[in-house]
Amino acid sequence: MKIIPATSTADILCMEAAPDPCGLVIFGATGDLARRKLVPALFQLRLRDLLPKPFFLLGFARSLDGDDAFRDNLRHALGDAAAAHSAEADAFLANAYAAHGDYQDPEAYRRLATRAAELSTRHGTSGNLAFYTATPPDLHAVIAGQLAGAGLLRETAGAWRRMVFEKPFGRDRATAGALNRTLHRHLAESQIFRIDHYLGKETVQNLFMLRFANLIFEPVWNRDHIAHVQITAAETLGVEERAGYYDGAGAVRDMFQNHLFQILALTAMEPPGRFEAPLVLAEKRKVLHSIRPFFDGPGNDPAQAWVRGQYTAGAGLPGYRAEPGVPPDSRTETYAAGVFHIDNWRWSGVPFCLRSGKRLDRRRTEIAITFRPVPISVFPELRPEDLARNVLVLNIQPDEGIELTIQAKRPGPKLCMSALTLDVKYREVFKTASSDAYERLLLDVMLGDRTLFISADFIDAAWSLLDPVLNAWANDPDGKRFPLHPYAAGSPGPEAANTLPAAGPDFAWRET
Ligand SMILES: NC(=O)c1ccc[n+]([C@@H]2O[C@H](COP(=O)([O-])OP(=O)(O)OC[C@H]3O[C@@H](n4cnc5c(N)ncnc54)[C@H](OP(=O)(O)O)[C@@H]3O)[C@@H](O)[C@H]2O)c1
Repeated sequence: MKIIPATSTADILCMEAAPDPCGLVIFGATGDLARRKLVPALFQLRLRDLLPKPFFLLGFARSLDGDDAFRDNLRHALGDAAAAHSAEADAFLANAYAAHGDYQDPEAYRRLATRAAELSTRHGTSGNLAFYTATPPDLHAVIAGQLAGAGLLRETAGAWRRMVFEKPFGRDRATAGALNRTLHRHLAESQIFRIDHYLGKETVQNLFMLRFANLIFEPVWNRDHIAHVQITAAETLGVEERAGYYDGAGAVRDMFQNHLFQILALTAMEPPGRFEAPLVLAEKRKVLHSIRPFFDGPGNDPAQAWVRGQYTAGAGLPGYRAEPGVPPDSRTETYAAGVFHIDNWRWSGVPFCLRSGKRLDRRRTEIAITFRPVPISVFPELRPEDLARNVLVLNIQPDEGIELTIQAKRPGPKLCMSALTLDVKYREVFKTASSDAYERLLLDVMLGDRTLFISADFIDAAWSLLDPVLNAWANDPDGKRFPLHPYAAGSPGPEAANTLPAAGPDFAWRET
């Protein structure tokens, strides 16, 4: 399908607010996330004229050695973008500074407070400060405590203080609750920005626009018209260098509790009164509270609703247990599929089937909404089930876009039809690559807009749903009730995932 982007300004509704002048302090500024994602995103914001004016960046790390060396590191992190926009890069880097210190040392935070105050005066940022924890997660609460001890989290009438937290948010309900309680000792919930970078992706945000800026979807967005929803996050990569973290986490903790649940909630939520953080966050939380809890026994038995798997050698690639840093007897799942029932009026009886895995045959993240069959066939030769179902697919990565499958007349005999897919690819329609999720999210931190961030109660509800499944698996070390199904690297995943009793007898994953 050819879409002509609106050309008149009356058709294009693009609004972007300008953030207040501020400083951004990145903890762990020498790390992978800062170099690969945060700094390039800040520079892109500057190129798009969206970085506040004035603005300064202050990197904090143990191994930083002076402003000049830090600026050299940053230029390196910007790579081709710095070379292509050298004047802008020079100006951006001139506003970057380094703070050296140990994350546990109160004296380092007193020096940081002095430096931040001096930079705030020099740049005229009115004391507005955002802090970003790009360090290993066990330091996140430590940093918040130390910042509070140095008085850096206290807001005044003229100056805001915000703090951004990277995932993971605990490894179960108890640890997430403890983390949130610690953070709440130092920060109001409105100052806390818990990041899930999926929410910064254009297609995830588009789900919101699609549902609530169009009339045609809402009337069919319910149990009367939708048969099932499938959410897939498939990776071709293996565990890479992350075995230290991943082997203690697994697919459910790494993907379901955050990314997949966010997508599920946006797909299933009720319309909020307005597109504003408290209202959106409340509707998303309500979805999780309506999901039928899992219970190890009769009822919503995880054995009926879940399959877990682990990749073995295949396609010339090593199996998970042969990856560097993975124990040879590891029972960590690298694949999981689960069925969720949302017990409310809109969704009763519609299974939401979620799956995610590493080393699969294709990389893709998508939401596939399959509609019910037509009630009767008016074509005497055909039964309703002969007609392909309507399927709406939102592609989140790698090729962001929307597909809608419909039945259509084919040229030829009078009764001749087939499934036709209307396929919109963002990069073809808008002729521009979508901006990186971190650009959106960093800008929203500076704007103080928490709509695309995660609330404490969402995290609590997410872990409450997953803890019983993870506990049931942990309590079955031999895998007698919950086998750990092997699947070959480069395959579509374990065969057992094709039979999920909780999804109903006709269940099948969408082939893509
Ligand atoms: N990397 C990603 O793509 C990605 C994606 C999503 C989420 N995250 C999250 O973002 C946060 C940062 O991730 P990252 O990959 O950037 O981490 P990283 O590279 O391992 O660490 C970041 C920095 O933290 C400092 N650090 C302090 N204590 C450390 C320790 N015990 N071991 C290693 N480094 C230590 C190091 O700087 P100094 O030694 O110089 O102080 C290091 O450069 C984590 O919470 C992670 O889960 C990362």
